[in-house]
Amino acid sequence: MPQEHRSTPDPFDWIDEHAELRRRAGLVRSLRPRPADSPLLDLAGNDYLGLARHPEVVAAASAAARRWGAGATGSRLVTGTTELHAELEAELADFCGFEAALVFSSGYAANLAAVTALTDRGTLVVSDAANHASLIDGCRLSRAETAVVPHSDPGAVGKALDGFAGRAVAVTDSVFSVDGDAAPLAELAAVCRGHGAALLVDDAHGLGVLGDGGRGALHAAGLAGDPDVVATATLSKALGSQGGAVLGPARVIDHLVNTARTFVFDTGLAPAAAGAALAALRLLRAEPGRSARVREVATGLYERLAGAGLDATRPDAAVVSVRAPSPEAAVRWAADCRGAGLAAGCFRPPSVPDGISRLRLTARADLTEAELDAAAATVTRTAPPVRPDA
Ligand SMILES: Cc1ncc(COP(=O)(O)O)c(C=O)c1O
Repeated sequence: MPQEHRSTPDPFDWIDEHAELRRRAGLVRSLRPRPADSPLLDLAGNDYLGLARHPEVVAAASAAARRWGAGATGSRLVTGTTELHAELEAELADFCGFEAALVFSSGYAANLAAVTALTDRGTLVVSDAANHASLIDGCRLSRAETAVVPHSDPGAVGKALDGFAGRAVAVTDSVFSVDGDAAPLAELAAVCRGHGAALLVDDAHGLGVLGDGGRGALHAAGLAGDPDVVATATLSKALGSQGGAVLGPARVIDHLVNTARTFVFDTGLAPAAAGAALAALRLLRAEPGRSARVREVATGLYERLAGAGLDATRPDAAVVSVRAPSPEAAVRWAADCRGAGLAAGCFRPPSVPDGISRLRLTARADLTEAELDAAAATVTRTAPPVRPDA
């Protein structure tokens, strides 16, 4: 209906007001087309091991789609579990050192499942202030009492748990997605044990990158398979596919099958994604050097950027981020990188826990030293001038 004939207020006017506020704050997001044969050097994605286009992974995806169909056709509780899903779950659990695993249609869904299924209104959840949005949303959905504690601070977790007699779960990323720093998992586990609390760790950025042959941050910390520890992971980063997983004691996994709403009421992981993730996992097992190489590339990238005077974070896994003076400067910086042939992530509020905008760069195991030199030179050449007060 044309505006002049309306007798009631437009129910979506507020959207324009919000868009204007975003524009003024330099926080507008828009979708860019991505050609299949992009000439850009990609340091924006999370394909840490360079497996998303690996011929064996792509062939496994297409073979799975041909055999099982393009979609899973329904919740696995309704239409059943393919042998592909079962093999993936068994091999993932075995590789990472857990008793059992359950795959989901995304890492986001896996995190919602783990937090909500392990908590209820009476549970205390202690959540790191820099946790990923999917863990935060899990806390909100759980309706549990949530104590948000300062970033990577086991002492604060202990204080939050002190004196709480009911069920409690501490929740953390293993590697924080914005700055790439690792959580103090061993200390967190000790604090949780001292209070009878469970520890839930999102290993989205650790699987394939940390631990022996890429077995993940929990394996590296000696916590994989512990009876009071649950991990989540995504199949969409180091494994180059799509989907997510929860790993833990068999009784926890069985509980999720029965109660996790993002499992029960969600169509199962697409066969192509399951097939691709399984092929990637087998490649990782066969070629354990990939995880060491991605860490080496991340360190090399950091050293080049810090050496050039940029405010880069020292990577604990595959992510290096470089602070920008403002959201607008970060957007311009990423655009200038793109113009010079480099894809870099641009993180601005609300995707950053501290409100500071950054370029987020990701290492890949298949990057050459020459590509690293070129990437670092581009980021340095296009860097915004440092503010005198910075
Ligand atoms: C720490 C973390 N957890 C969970 C997710 C969600 O995983 P997915 O993309 O598979 O939904 C992401 C990123 O996407 C992440 O960075």
